[in-house]
Amino acid sequence: MLILSIESSCDETAVAVTRNGREVLADEIFSQDDMHALYGGVVPEIASRNHITVISRLADSALTKAGIERSDIDAVAVTYAPGLIGALLVGVNFAKGAAMSLNVPLIPVHHVRGHIAANYIAFPELEPPFVCLAISGGNTVIVDVRGYTDMSVIGSTHDDAAGECFDKAARVLGLPYPGGLPMDRLAQGGDDTAFKLPRSKIDGHPYDMSFSGLKTAVVNIVHNAEQKGETLDKQGLAASFAAAVSDTLVPRTMDAARSLGYDTIAVAGGVAANSRIRADFEAAALREGKRLFVPPLRLCGDNAAMIGCQGYYEYLAGIRAESDLNAYATMDIDRLII
Ligand code: KG4
Repeated sequence: MLILSIESSCDETAVAVTRNGREVLADEIFSQDDMHALYGGVVPEIASRNHITVISRLADSALTKAGIERSDIDAVAVTYAPGLIGALLVGVNFAKGAAMSLNVPLIPVHHVRGHIAANYIAFPELEPPFVCLAISGGNTVIVDVRGYTDMSVIGSTHDDAAGECFDKAARVLGLPYPGGLPMDRLAQGGDDTAFKLPRSKIDGHPYDMSFSGLKTAVVNIVHNAEQKGETLDKQGLAASFAAAVSDTLVPRTMDAARSLGYDTIAVAGGVAANSRIRADFEAAALREGKRLFVPPLRLCGDNAAMIGCQGYYEYLAGIRAESDLNAYATMDIDRLII
């Protein structure tokens, strides 16, 4: 089954062609990072306008690279939640038009379900059940993945997402947007005990977390040093910060897998690219004898192949949208509105 898939929930416009979920025939991504870097974060209207400009060209290019005709497409899958509403609407409307003109089913896909599915593309042997930590610029959740379309959130952030926290810490340190990768690079070789930073705990919710205290602590350290005219050990601060984020995420995910009785752990989303988090997961999985799956860097960030993959499993589960499909800025992973 060939699926044309569309992703436009934030500042990446992406179109892919996948066969039977896991085989990627084409995976086109246009990143707008440069256009938003000037503002230090994503400007929603600029994101929407850029999606409109490039989406048709990306779709043509995906079909050419996949070596297929429009008439070969069996279904169209699209991210419809969560994300920036104007940005999502561009992809949803494009997908509606495509599905209507090709007379094929339209499959709505939850963005975070898509991130989880990136693991199915990278690892053909991976099957549910497993615990997945999905960490991106807008979402930080620990998910009990019971089946391909049967899942629930068992832990989440009460405020900032992990990626958002990386981006804000990077900004105060004068690094470019998006700040996750520059922070990761700065942290290399830094002393991760140079600064004592908070690790959140939420009473009564062992798998939930908070990143606002950590963010504020970094902002205060930087401002304090500036006010006193002191030279800041930026490398040590970046390394201490990465350690604090990792210490907040990795043990919770391992605990969740243990309490659910799963032997498999997956990580997904842009922040899964972080070298400290990857290394800490590898060490923890080895220690506890768990199987660990972390996608290659290209599949960690937003892409449409993951939407095509999850779209395939949603299709098998009978999920379809009609021409009145709307987009939603927020939506639970386990309570889909179609
Ligand atoms: O999944 P993604 O591409 O988009 C969303 O769905 O949000 O994630 C983007 C986030 C950004 O916050 C970016 O700074 C972060 O992923 N990121 C990283 C790294 N690479 C990207 N964070 C930490 N370390 C990295 N190496």
